[in-house]
Amino acid sequence: MKKIAVLASGNGSNLQAIIDATRGGRIRDARICLVISDKKNAYALERARRCNLPVRVFLHQDYPTRDAYDRALVACLQGEGIDLVVLAGFMRLVTPYFVGAFPGRIMNIHPSLLPAFPGTRGVADALEYGVKVTGVTVHFVDEGMDTGPVILQEATSVYDDDTEESLAARLHAIEHRLYPKAIDLWVRGKIKIVGRRCLLDD
Ligand code: GAR
Repeated sequence: MKKIAVLASGNGSNLQAIIDATRGGRIRDARICLVISDKKNAYALERARRCNLPVRVFLHQDYPTRDAYDRALVACLQGEGIDLVVLAGFMRLVTPYFVGAFPGRIMNIHPSLLPAFPGTRGVADALEYGVKVTGVTVHFVDEGMDTGPVILQEATSVYDDDTEESLAARLHAIEHRLYPKAIDLWVRGKIKIVGRRCLLDD
């Protein structure tokens, strides 16, 4: 049974999708052992508590540097014996120390077809640019911002009457399917990283 930690800063709808997938059998042989947030009022924490999952809050202001922050996070994750770290709307760039502690074992989800529109405004940037197609990317985390090897991507059209809200809602629906699928692939040992490519044995 693989042990998963989910890190979230906000609403936690992806966290909820992953909880539902572990409990509904769409992610097999894994359970969420810990939910961590950098925001004490994150709704993700409320969702975790309602599902009886252990939560921890790591506030930026309690640590002198980014490195000290990530060292504390890593110590906590390693102390719990976490196998896979899942970033689900965790709006913070992790340090090389963090990445090195969990090589090929940190995933992130991003609301665009990377490498287009990285950063914290993936939906708004795609809309402002005027692309006709955007989507969702699940990828492994490396030292860069949204640059690690791509595990899964799914596209959606951008319609003339789309607003940031309508497009985000469509992307969220995709995320809630795609993230559990990627996690399940990892748990079942179906992802092989070769250079920048993830080969999926499904
Ligand atoms: C998701 O749309 C995720 O793709 C995005 O934050 C949202 C979190 O939603 N992440 C990024 O933009 C990372 N750069 P949620 O809190 O409802 O899961």
